[in-house]
Amino acid sequence: MSDFLVDLGTRPPARRVIKALGLPIPLPRKLERSDAPWTDRPLEDLPVVVCHRNGAEFAGLTARTLTGAGADSWVIGTAEHLEPYREYGDAWGRRPRTVAGHDLPDGLRPKALIFDASGMKGPGELKGMYAFFHDRVRRLAPCGRVVVLSRPPEGAGSPQEAACAEAINGFVRSLAREIGRNGSTAQTVYIDPGAEKHAEPVLRFLLSRRSAYITSQPIHVTGNVPMEGKAPARRPLDGKVALVTGAARGIGAATAAALAREGARVVGMDRPGENEPLSRLMDEIGGSPLLCDITDEDAPEAVCGSIMQMFGELDIVVHNAGVTRDKMLANMDEERWETTLNVNLLSLIRLNDALQDLLNPGGRVICLASIAGIAGNMGQTNYAASKAGVIGYVRALAPSLAGRRVTVNAIAPGFIETRMTAAVPLATREVARRLCNLSQGGLPADIAELATFLASPGAAGLTGEVIRICGGNYIGA
Ligand code: NAI
Repeated sequence: MSDFLVDLGTRPPARRVIKALGLPIPLPRKLERSDAPWTDRPLEDLPVVVCHRNGAEFAGLTARTLTGAGADSWVIGTAEHLEPYREYGDAWGRRPRTVAGHDLPDGLRPKALIFDASGMKGPGELKGMYAFFHDRVRRLAPCGRVVVLSRPPEGAGSPQEAACAEAINGFVRSLAREIGRNGSTAQTVYIDPGAEKHAEPVLRFLLSRRSAYITSQPIHVTGNVPMEGKAPARRPLDGKVALVTGAARGIGAATAAALAREGARVVGMDRPGENEPLSRLMDEIGGSPLLCDITDEDAPEAVCGSIMQMFGELDIVVHNAGVTRDKMLANMDEERWETTLNVNLLSLIRLNDALQDLLNPGGRVICLASIAGIAGNMGQTNYAASKAGVIGYVRALAPSLAGRRVTVNAIAPGFIETRMTAAVPLATREVARRLCNLSQGGLPADIAELATFLASPGAAGLTGEVIRICGGNYIGA
């Protein structure tokens, strides 16, 4: 579904007229996205300014990430911080440049600003973060990225250190609101001690065009699930078998296509009534259709049996099938409650339990939640309960799967342009679209790119996480 204001904003004459007339119409910035196959150097030639304060610990991580991804790094730091950039820069033919004092060359518009806040001992040291962004945020290019790297508040050495780590999140969330109008995003990445290697692919993804609709998020990288070897930069899912439920349309269809693009052998499952669109999509992407209603009593057995017969193994599960049956609680009949809970939560758990025996070590489980499950929503007691249940399930399940190197995460979308949201009345839809930092709805492809990243070997550092992908929605943020 097209968004009139985003389309209008792409036309310079229209922008000029609206500005000249002083009309109070905010024209959202059309987001720069990528749904092309993964490449070795997703940040090729993009200028990125990085600041490592005294005592900061992540120079090796950022140097490897940026030089490896082909970025044009501009570094503020001590000689010790610069060393890894020289080392990796030489290896990748990408020598970093240093920034003296506060000066960036005239005309340089960084595509990303990264602040390494590790090693901060108390809130007094936050001033360095203020100064770095204060002097440069105006220079950030449209659809740019801000990332602040920190140790998590949990496990901080003192209450002051914990205060400092939390303060960073407040700062980043607010900055995300300020830069969202320009299509730019901001995240805090909390990295556990020893999880620096795990953080590298996460940072690479967040800096890329594939994370266009994720903003204002604290993301926690752990080393709980070991990472085997080097994460592949291209075709990360080669040879993997992936099951996507609700794959006939919307987010499920986009996800199935993105997984296949990166090399996965996809089994797309949907209700028997969706045979036509499902078969068409599976033909296009070389996947296998599987017709089954997830709520059928024998669905887990039937799905496992079919996958066993087709491939004998499974690596990735995307639990995407979902329904809404909205009504104010006082008017909600039992059928609406039952159907929503049954499809979105009970059947998901039953199927997931059954699939565990098929899932290979290093497997990936991805569940679709919703920001309604975090914030609640009028007329959605049933839906919000089901999606909050998904979040609880994912968090509790993660530790028990880590031993087999399996990760499990939830994606919590905000307003995404699909058939589900096309059914929302026009005025409500228009408000819902604008009620976020980026002032527009997300696309199924945005969710598909996040799901594909979470499905990749490089995402071992994320487990038990709930990643909101909502453009920085004001609801429950
Ligand atoms: P959609 O309605 O376009 O697609 C859902 C798919 O699930 C359909 O193909 C449908 O046939 C399938 N499905 C439903 N019941 C099923 C059953 N009993 N057995 C097998 N398949 C079944 O929905 P959309 O928008 O693509 O949403 C996908 C997921 O993302 C859902 O879990 C939804 O709750 C979640 N979500 C979507 C948001 C949005 O703004 N579109 C926002 C937040 C979460």
